[in-house]
Amino acid sequence: MTDLIEPDALLFNPFVPGFFEDPYPQYKMLRDNDPVQNHPLGFWFVSRFDDVSTLLKAGLSVEVANLAPGPFNQQIEYFGTEGNAGALNLSMLDRDPPDHTRLRSLVTKVFTRRAVAALEPRITALVDGALDEMAEKGSCDLVEELAFPLPFEVISEMLGMPPTDHARIRQLSGTLVRSLEIVADEEAARAIMDADIELASIARELIEWKRKNPGDDLLTALITAEHEGQVLNSDELVAQVVLLYVAGHETTVNLIANGVNALLRNPDQLALLRAKPELAANAVEEFLRYDSPVQQTRRITTEPYVLRDKEIPAGTFVLACLGSANRDERFFGPDAGELRVDRPDARAQVSFGAGPHHCLGAALARLEGQVAISRLVQRFPDLGFAGQLEWNGRINLRGPAKFPVTVHAT
Ligand code: HEM
Repeated sequence: MTDLIEPDALLFNPFVPGFFEDPYPQYKMLRDNDPVQNHPLGFWFVSRFDDVSTLLKAGLSVEVANLAPGPFNQQIEYFGTEGNAGALNLSMLDRDPPDHTRLRSLVTKVFTRRAVAALEPRITALVDGALDEMAEKGSCDLVEELAFPLPFEVISEMLGMPPTDHARIRQLSGTLVRSLEIVADEEAARAIMDADIELASIARELIEWKRKNPGDDLLTALITAEHEGQVLNSDELVAQVVLLYVAGHETTVNLIANGVNALLRNPDQLALLRAKPELAANAVEEFLRYDSPVQQTRRITTEPYVLRDKEIPAGTFVLACLGSANRDERFFGPDAGELRVDRPDARAQVSFGAGPHHCLGAALARLEGQVAISRLVQRFPDLGFAGQLEWNGRINLRGPAKFPVTVHAT
């Protein structure tokens, strides 16, 4: 796939050097020159705020079965295979109404702002436990100690997961989320399929365990829905469990780590947040905007769709670049490229998508991000880099793989 992109400075190309460290100059170039780009690989790339918002709310399809054959068809070839043993394509994220509506309504009540607010004491206890361990170590990796374990533990507890092989699940889920981006080659696509199949099989085992050990948790509720009739079939049950498990942590880890990275690189903003802790909620909106944990989401046209001055044909994969929309000067003003924890319209960011698929876990992610970052910066006045941050090399779920920090003055 990488070889198929002709070198052309005006094309979206995540394979150029430096993209993972800083994709934002390329996004700006696209917004300024070709905001609704008909990419030679066969997908379209939308980069301005207004267009992204319009597209996401337009009620377009998300089902890969609606894609027309074309050069950018690896999603059909590799992931769209009917009856494969994995969970891809059966989750609510990949379904249109009425299936989408049915699947989403099964879990919405657990993720309302009110239901999520009740989790605050537990989230705070988990954060403080992690910070205690960091304090003892002095220097450590922020991703390993806080940004990853917090959301992973929270979603595991919500689902009511038994103790299981976390390291393996983490590895598989890290591979699976690559299905959300342009896949470099066939080998990478095969690895994603294998991860999907193995994760689905682990989910099936966990579901079997839960059938024998029901509790007051989300997994039990989903199993009950499956039992009660036609609400949810067993493959769909597996797919929703995998989606919730993966979406529950692969994204929030980047909110926490990208947010702390942004603060450490902008000491005046860190000082402002410490001086005014009441800015914490707005600061989280600004972290989501400034360095979006999910950089893209997608839609698929089922009939010709006009956006700006372009007609996108039916059966086309359209990438809405949330990371670019959030930096659009046309919407956020000339300082869109700067971090401002007191930015008045930060909450307008589109990091959770928009329209019918708007992130179900937004309230939970916001709360986790707020508790984790505000308690971290208040507790450690000497928080700083202890080495080189390394990016995870993902086009979509952008965040650090390694983030060495020190929590004591050296
Ligand atoms: C969907 C972002 C955390 C569960 C989405 C979408 C985005 C997103 C961009 C697609 C929206 C669209 O296409 O319009 C994020 C970000 C997070 C986060 C940035 C953290 C900062 C979570 C958490 C959960 C979660 C903690 C909890 C389990 C979901 C689910 C969907 C979804 C189930 C599919 C909704 C649907 O298709 O109706 N998220 N998410 N997310 N997210 Fe999140």
